[in-house]
Amino acid sequence: MRDTFHRTIDYLRISVTDRCDLRCKYCMPETGVEPLTHGDILSYEEILRLAKCFVRLGIRHIKITGGEPLVRLYVIDLIGQLKKIPGIEQVTLTTNGTHLAKYIWALDKLHIDGINISLDTLNPVLYREITGRDVFAKVFSGLQEALKYPAIKLKINCVPQGLSGQDIAAVAGLAKDHPVHVRFIEMMPIGLGKEFPLICESNVRQELEQTYGSLQPFHENLGNGPCRYYSIPGFQGKIGFISAMSHKFCSNCNRVRLTADGKLKTCLQYDRGMDLKALLRSGRPDHEVELAILQALESKPGEHHFTETFVVDQEKKSMFQIGG
Ligand code: GTP
Ligand code: 5AD
Ligand code: SF4
Repeated sequence: MRDTFHRTIDYLRISVTDRCDLRCKYCMPETGVEPLTHGDILSYEEILRLAKCFVRLGIRHIKITGGEPLVRLYVIDLIGQLKKIPGIEQVTLTTNGTHLAKYIWALDKLHIDGINISLDTLNPVLYREITGRDVFAKVFSGLQEALKYPAIKLKINCVPQGLSGQDIAAVAGLAKDHPVHVRFIEMMPIGLGKEFPLICESNVRQELEQTYGSLQPFHENLGNGPCRYYSIPGFQGKIGFISAMSHKFCSNCNRVRLTADGKLKTCLQYDRGMDLKALLRSGRPDHEVELAILQALESKPGEHHFTETFVVDQEKKSMFQIGG
């Protein structure tokens, strides 16, 4: 499907839960969060039905997100079912890694195409400060287990908030020692993210070049998202930057989102889209759902306006409720 700016939309990010077992300080508050109830969230049957509607409209890549997707019971079965839908070329997962060690075998067996692991630091004390939980060892062993499955493309996501140059170089070093791509993400002013200063790609790059020498642009696409990649001689993986603030990538946007409570979101920053759960639960047939998706797509804006103070239709949900 195409939006009004002639962009091809073939990537759907499906959030399967708003729950998470971590409390990253830029994402999810420690207290005061009222999780969605079982009845609020889409059932797996509803997700599969919607996925088939989206595939008929041209979606080819699916990303499973949360909250933390692996905390939802039987999510592995859902991923397996999504993989079997004709027309879907890739199903990938973004996870905080706390449950990866126990599920990686099953994920490999169902031929998951890629896994992105959020890991902001290799320092266990700092990890606990950032995420509110003392589980660095668990996540790191999840990564080590995942490395045993070469068919799964692995990436590390790092939001370099409160990291020293040394911490940044250490995370990037994972791409030197292992076949994983390490991506540095600029904080976006969504939810708690608004309360943190922006650490620009250029600062991170400077730190990396001091330790590893110059970064050379790598022009191949290594996924479906907005990341730009660089090579460093001697590294097995690439270094990437997702820089929504300093290097806006909206003109190439190829994606829409489905929240755990069944809302189609046409842009990360805007509360625009369609309540697909309401359509499903009022008994509408597939062709009407598909028409509604196409209508909603007309509201997809051309770009985000993160740096502006007043924005109409601004999303009030936090990152853990959207799925990144
Ligand atoms: P692959 O490239 O396929 O590996 O996936 P991805 O980078 O799209 O997925 P991931 O879930 O790892 O997302 C990484 C970061 O990119 C998260 O912080 C997302 O919020 C951010 N991101 C993904 N899509 C968009 C987008 O449309 N706009 C903005 N501003 N950020 C996005
Ligand atoms: N800005 C940018 N990235 C964020 N993430 C969570 N909150 C924000 C934010 N405000 C990241 C997580 C995870 C990915 C899915 O999104 O660290 O790696
Ligand atoms: Fe959980 Fe991911 Fe948010 Fe951290 S960034 S609290 S892991 S949803």
